[in-house]
Amino acid sequence: MKLFIDTGDVGEVRRAAEWGILDGCTTNPSLIAKAGRGFKETVLEICEILPEGEISAEVVSTDREGMLREAREIASWHPNIVVKVPLTPAGVATVRRLTDEGIKTNVTLVFTVSQALLAAKAGATFISNFVGRVDDVSTDGMAAVAETVAMVERYGFDSQVLAASVRHPRHIVEALAAGAHIATAPMAVLEALFRHPLTDAGLERFLSDWRKAGLSIG
Ligand code: G3P
Repeated sequence: MKLFIDTGDVGEVRRAAEWGILDGCTTNPSLIAKAGRGFKETVLEICEILPEGEISAEVVSTDREGMLREAREIASWHPNIVVKVPLTPAGVATVRRLTDEGIKTNVTLVFTVSQALLAAKAGATFISNFVGRVDDVSTDGMAAVAETVAMVERYGFDSQVLAASVRHPRHIVEALAAGAHIATAPMAVLEALFRHPLTDAGLERFLSDWRKAGLSIG
């Protein structure tokens, strides 16, 4: 499963990139606004930090012509950019055209397998099934991820299923079980993936025993 960081904060991308296991980055208008810098400069810096990564950057028009214009502009900035488009009728029509033009797309704000079907039929490169926002209203957000994976595999769509709106490490575990191709998570969640009390205690015990034995390497 690919791991993306979900942020507009280039400092977070830089820190996570040091781990050497990051496959990309997803942004959205709220994350870019929160970062407080220009859209293009932020996206291009993330592309530099992750030269092999897949970097999602979202249009903000809501009509087809506006989305197409913005998507072509954003895609022209860097070959690693995947253009994010919301799952609306105009968005699906936009993705269909972008697919024909060879521009990669990430269809976002997807909550049901029926919405995911529309994205897959339009040729979406990534389908962003939001999990946390569904959990937030006492429903099983990961269910639609599993259903979408099953649909993509059963009908042979080329789309990759991306578990988004991830709130905690358990969502990553569940995304793995669901067969998601990608999970995108905030820095805090990615950092939490490393943590386990038994790892900390075990390392401390190793080092304590080593020190007590007065050993050294070389
Ligand atoms: O990429 C989509 C993601 O940013 C949404 O997450 O936490 O705003 O539901 P959240």
